[in-house]
Amino acid sequence: MTIELFLNGEHKKLTAQADLALSQVLQLECRGVNPGCGKGYCGCCTVLLNGKLTYSCQIPFFSVKNQSIMTVEGIQTSNIFSDILKGMKRAKLDICDYCAPARTLSFYSLLKRADRPNNQEIQEVLSSIHCSCTHIPLLNQAIFYSLEEKYTRLHG
Ligand code: FES
Ligand code: FES
Repeated sequence: MTIELFLNGEHKKLTAQADLALSQVLQLECRGVNPGCGKGYCGCCTVLLNGKLTYSCQIPFFSVKNQSIMTVEGIQTSNIFSDILKGMKRAKLDICDYCAPARTLSFYSLLKRADRPNNQEIQEVLSSIHCSCTHIPLLNQAIFYSLEEKYTRLHG
């Protein structure tokens, strides 16, 4: 089937088998969609679906007609993306390719919606992706520095 949708701000027509998962279709379009388990556990297939962090392996392709999907490619020119890169660098966070796109997108969703997220909001975002090689305290530090970078950019 062919459906129309908005991918990273662009109107697109994508053709694929209706019963495929969204992740299976998107990984052919975007390098930043990097499915792992395919079962809703790892979070590596995370995209923003209408602005909400979503495991794309759990979403049927046919269901995203006319919906808006953002992958990490869609945020790379944003100021927040730059805040995140600086924050990760300051924290000396060196994440591997396995979770980096999803992790970066999850940071973006947090920084986009809140200037001062509370601890529960931060932990929800961090726990949405199961990382096998980076410790939570380091990720917390990277979020803290990313928020600080955003604050400095906006308020000097
Ligand atoms: S591939 Fe979607 S949660 Fe693991
Ligand atoms: S899985 Fe390697 S840094 Fe997250």
